[in-house]
Amino acid sequence: MPEPTDNTDLSEALSGPGEAAEDWIAPAATPTSAPMIEFEHIGISFNGRVVLDDVSFHVNRGQTLCILGRSGVGKSVALRMLMGFLKPDSGSIRVDGQEITGLDEDGMQAIRKRITMVFQNGALFDSLTVRENVAFPLRERGGLDEDQIQQLVDRLVGLVGAEDVVESLPASLSTGRKRAVAIARALAAQPEVVLYDEPTTMVDPIIARRLGDLIQRLKHQLGFTSIVVTHDMRFAERLADQVLFLHAGRAQFFGPLRDFLMSPDPHIQQFLTLDAYLIPSD
Ligand SMILES: Nc1ncnc2c1ncn2[C@@H]1O[C@H](COP(=O)(O)OP(=O)(O)OP(=O)(O)O)[C@@H](O)[C@H]1O
Ligand SMILES: [Mg+2]
Repeated sequence: MPEPTDNTDLSEALSGPGEAAEDWIAPAATPTSAPMIEFEHIGISFNGRVVLDDVSFHVNRGQTLCILGRSGVGKSVALRMLMGFLKPDSGSIRVDGQEITGLDEDGMQAIRKRITMVFQNGALFDSLTVRENVAFPLRERGGLDEDQIQQLVDRLVGLVGAEDVVESLPASLSTGRKRAVAIARALAAQPEVVLYDEPTTMVDPIIARRLGDLIQRLKHQLGFTSIVVTHDMRFAERLADQVLFLHAGRAQFFGPLRDFLMSPDPHIQQFLTLDAYLIPSD
């Protein structure tokens, strides 16, 4: 497994050799031996129904965790807690060592500058072109002139292979394209951690492969820490350093991909043989 790089400066990674990028400074990666993301003994219930019970896992900087499990086990809930959209009933969630469960909205805003989520539907602004969607986080961040913004937009759009639709409105794009643009927009915010919820659902296998290539490239070139929720085991096999398998509210498995694939656990066996390699029909 390649070592995570220290290079979180997106503009540097996106610029060609010799191109100046010093005007756009990425947040410095804080050197730490602690995991980037930690869930410890997390529990959450809705209307008396326990969804997650005593779930613990962590993700080290530069690594990719795939969260697997059948529909309704709480995969999206785990991501939403990390973004602060839901609060756990018990347990601790730490981001780069900082406890986030007690943070107010201002505190969570600061966390959301470091962690972005690529939503399933892309969550793009319908009335803005692809160019303006990707430019949005760059403008919000401030400190860039219009030329720099446009240069970065072109590079980000190029990175996800959406150059030909840069002046289009989201409504005219296919689901796969919307998702690629959503990834470009997420990266424009210069996060340290990117969360993907089912990135390959509802796209054809070729687009799924391209999105997989893209996520893998971002990991290797830019050293992003990622959490990928997926039903798609082929996708998980390409991307995962670690796997979290949720079953009946529990972290039934947390560990390296190769151990997951060889696990004798009957629930994991059933998942791998029945669910995981089927292309979702929805
Ligand atoms: N805000 C909420 N209020 C009430 N119940 C919720 C809420 N969010 C999630 N749930 C419930 O929690 C359970 C887990 O939901 P979650 O969306 O995390 O499942 P999932 O593992 O992502 O499933 P899928 O693979 O179908 O996306 C479901 O039963 C869902 O109905
Ligand atoms: Mg979900």
